[in-house]
Amino acid sequence: MYSRGDYQRAAEVVQSHSDLRPTIGLILGSGLGKLADAFNERVSVPYERIPGWPLSTVEGHQGQLVIGEFAGQIIAAQQGRAHFYEGYSMAEVTFPIRVMKALGIGSLLLTNAAGGLNPRYQVGDLMLLEDHINLPGMAGANPLMGPNDETLGPRFLGMSQAYDRRLRQRALDVARERDIPLHSGVYFGLSGPFFETPAEIRMIRALGGDAVGMSTVNEVLAARHAGMRVMACSGVTNRAIDAVDTELETNHEEVLEAGEIIVPRLTTILKGLLSNFPI
Ligand code: HPA
Repeated sequence: MYSRGDYQRAAEVVQSHSDLRPTIGLILGSGLGKLADAFNERVSVPYERIPGWPLSTVEGHQGQLVIGEFAGQIIAAQQGRAHFYEGYSMAEVTFPIRVMKALGIGSLLLTNAAGGLNPRYQVGDLMLLEDHINLPGMAGANPLMGPNDETLGPRFLGMSQAYDRRLRQRALDVARERDIPLHSGVYFGLSGPFFETPAEIRMIRALGGDAVGMSTVNEVLAARHAGMRVMACSGVTNRAIDAVDTELETNHEEVLEAGEIIVPRLTTILKGLLSNFPI
């Protein structure tokens, strides 16, 4: 368990590395870390320098916090995140979110790599999360379990407007103006680390999932609990396999490869969104 003082201490260490004071947080998922290379006045703080911060153990996650200017905004971007499947507790997975709050960040933009279930989705497309289904969370694996610190957020959290409507609308407008395929859909969050069986994929589709992944939902819970505005976007890195009669198998390499197509599209959308902030 962490306390308020732990988040504050970590934030002070981050602040000792840069005079820039970020107001926007960005989380860059598998294969998407390169987006922060476009930042100006960039300072990178390796996660191991920040007390309490979980280290990234997964390939495609650089493991540093990049602070810099992008599209007129000061941003703190996580190049890589910690996942529940790596053995981290929910408190550890969401520690960076609470540090971002302590840094004074009011809006959080999350990205992830996801498998596409909706038949209209192609590899390389983007999907804005309009909502999510958090199956492990509904069963008790979520960061809001346990004693609640009322100074961090409420005991009972409303989740009907988790993904900020104005931010989503603006992102959709930018994508339309620039001819970038951006869907709106439901993200189905699972713990992983295994990819789903075809029967699980058919179940997720029947339950209303458009894309499936192993991150994001816990961070969104912590961010909404802290009162942050949230927007999240999936990059469709592979098509989820829904039948057993196939030679196909999902793998992490294809997930990372698709990042090459997704990063420029995501960069364009974020640039358009951020250059109009606050929205
Ligand atoms: N399933 C779960 N997580 C993922 C996938 C997938 O197909 N692709 C990228 N992350």
